[in-house]
Amino acid sequence: MNYVADDSRYKTMQYNRSGRSGIKLPVVSLGLWHNFGGVDTFTNSRAMVLRAFDLGITHFDLANNYGPPPGSAEETFGQILAKDLKPYRDELIISSKAGYWMWDGPYGEWGSRKYLVSSLDQSLKRMGLEYVDLFYHHRPDPDTALEETMQALDFIVRSGRALYVGLSNYPADKTREAAKILKQLGTPCLIHQPSYSMFNRWVEDGLLTALKDEGIGCIAFSPLAQGLLTDKYLGGNIPEGSRASKAHGFLKPANITEDKLAKVKKLNEMAKSRKQTLAQMALAWVLRHETMTSVLIGASKVEQIDDAVGTLKNLDFTSSELQQIEMVLNS
Ligand SMILES: NC(=O)c1ccc[n+]([C@@H]2O[C@H](COP(=O)([O-])OP(=O)(O)OC[C@H]3O[C@@H](n4cnc5c(N)ncnc54)[C@H](OP(=O)(O)O)[C@@H]3O)[C@@H](O)[C@H]2O)c1
Repeated sequence: MNYVADDSRYKTMQYNRSGRSGIKLPVVSLGLWHNFGGVDTFTNSRAMVLRAFDLGITHFDLANNYGPPPGSAEETFGQILAKDLKPYRDELIISSKAGYWMWDGPYGEWGSRKYLVSSLDQSLKRMGLEYVDLFYHHRPDPDTALEETMQALDFIVRSGRALYVGLSNYPADKTREAAKILKQLGTPCLIHQPSYSMFNRWVEDGLLTALKDEGIGCIAFSPLAQGLLTDKYLGGNIPEGSRASKAHGFLKPANITEDKLAKVKKLNEMAKSRKQTLAQMALAWVLRHETMTSVLIGASKVEQIDDAVGTLKNLDFTSSELQQIEMVLNS
């Protein structure tokens, strides 16, 4: 069936400015790390992307290695673009990344100019795009001079392959250094993509301050701790089809500990008293920082995307609610 976007797609979504840039991102963005690869069902992947766009999610996040197999999520997204979203290209912020292993030999990972430019050319081909809106260096490279990696990002923008650049998984000090180089080159860093959730709070120790100082936006990945911060695992078993049940899933059954489940149970009760799902409360909690531009969720079903967008109905916390959450997390 031919896809026509929902006329009401911009009615409920909110958009936050990324740092001091001209770009606004939806408060909820969709990532294609899991459930959009060659091993997944295309009709479900397509339904999720189109539902997201109908709900005002204008930002889709990819990387060279998403799949499995690596590269296949970009191929899936390319098919959806060609079939459905082509007329809406100018309404979309599409990102990709390079940094992790992608091909054999010395030029298939990390942060050299050779790797970043070749990898992005491959990503563009897989997605059938002339340019991506945002291109990230996926992780810091301890062995390549930061200048080379940042010059490569600057070149990528100047050569028309990307409109903006970002950093992912960079610690605070390296982010400040990289931001300075990028500013000098004339290609400012648009956004940083770190992991952040109730169970993973490293960004609170310096990174968020660095981003505020530098005028860089922040988009938090795995805000639901890959599904742990939902009611999914509360029954004490690992449901069939869940991420923890899949051999290629990055959430391992060993990560679902008694201690975590005890906290999730208490948080779930708190969410109920706020008339939210636990997923919604966990997303609102990430968004409570003024520097947080967007939460980057993953999904395996259309309903999970609806649930995430429902977060917008209650983004506020009282100080007593925040204290209670701290108590649970520190218990
Ligand atoms: N830059 C990086 O290094 C990096 C690393 C990781 C991820 N990312 C980006 O961040 C994106 C999101 O990461 P993530 O998938 O780990 O995020 P997440 O939102 O923490 O986890 C998504 C998973 O949570 C479960 N879920 C979501 N909504 C739910 C709901 N309402 N009720 C119950 N379960 C729900 C689903 O698991 P089931 O599949 O079990 O249903 C879903 O696949 C990725 O797609 C990628 O774009 C970036």
